Amino acid sequence: MKDVAGKIAFVTGAASGIGLGMARALASAGAKVALCDIDINRARRLVTELTSGGASCVAVPLDVTDEASWAQARETVEATLGEVSILCNNAGVGGGSGLAESYAPRVFRWVFRSNIDSILYGIRCFVPGMRARGVEGHVVNVSSMAGVLAPPNSVAYVASKFAVTGFTLALRNELKSTSIRTSVLCPGMTATRIVETTARLRPGERAQGVSAQTAAAMNAILSTGMNPDSVGRAVLAAILCERFYIFTHPEWKPLAEARVADLLEGFGPSAQPGYADDIAAILNGLSQTRDARC
Ligand SMILES: NC(=O)c1ccc[n+]([C@@H]2O[C@H](COP(=O)([O-])OP(=O)(O)OC[C@H]3O[C@@H](n4cnc5c(N)ncnc54)[C@H](O)[C@@H]3O)[C@@H](O)[C@H]2O)c1
Repeated sequence: MKDVAGKIAFVTGAASGIGLGMARALASAGAKVALCDIDINRARRLVTELTSGGASCVAVPLDVTDEASWAQARETVEATLGEVSILCNNAGVGGGSGLAESYAPRVFRWVFRSNIDSILYGIRCFVPGMRARGVEGHVVNVSSMAGVLAPPNSVAYVASKFAVTGFTLALRNELKSTSIRTSVLCPGMTATRIVETTARLRPGERAQGVSAQTAAAMNAILSTGMNPDSVGRAVLAAILCERFYIFTHPEWKPLAEARVADLLEGFGPSAQPGYADDIAAILNGLSQTRDARC
């Protein structure tokens, strides 16, 4: 999309952190922004701040884990701002820490509902309309460096963020012949309230013992992380360039290279000499090609 001015953007988790950074960047470039969040009071306060600076914004209540809530939010946005052409699936939670062997299934499922089921709901809510209108559209899904590598934190967080990356790669191929572009955002440490948000929304009892200590340590690390407004501006630039991967923290690149090398090293001879999949037919011409405009 060459310009976002006048376009309607729907940003989830916009009452804090990276979502707010995206909302600010989009609004400053002239987009009309729906700040959607489960924390509606905070979203409303931020809308007051943004509109007093001249932006055109609304605060919309949304629980991304509830598909009915998406339908209601879309109705509100269409009635106040108009048809959405930029969807930022940003809302998400950390998973806390803990070994896989003792991870609570209830918390695991909540992390998946928040981080990946939500993205399916967002796509189901807005992509059919964008497709039918045939206008320029853009979907940004928020993954993480933990959606490319597996840092030793939470199996739930890492697995859900790998799912976001995989989902978005598949979506990119599905939408290739339409006027809707896709991006996957993979930030490193960013100074946000994610540890607090996770503790507030997490089902069941609060994290205790080692988990609580790890959360406190993570909070301290994040407090010196990248400014989320810088991440928001990088997202805006990627939308304007139609860039798929948005890596905001290049210091992680050597680890990504090591992971790819590790993966490639896993390829040995065929398990059945003489047999080979017809890859061209399976992929139907949809190779992972670079498609950025700049
Ligand atoms: N902070 C980091 O270092 C970092 C790094 C990589 C990726 N991310 C990702 O960035 C995204 C945004 O997180 P953040 O770090 O800005 O955290 P944050 O807690 O500051 O902001 C997240 C916002 O999402 C909202 N939210 C959470 N669950 C919701 C739900 N069910 N429905 C609606 N709103 C909900 C919260 O109320 C909050 O306002 C997440 O997907 C996170 O995984 C963060």
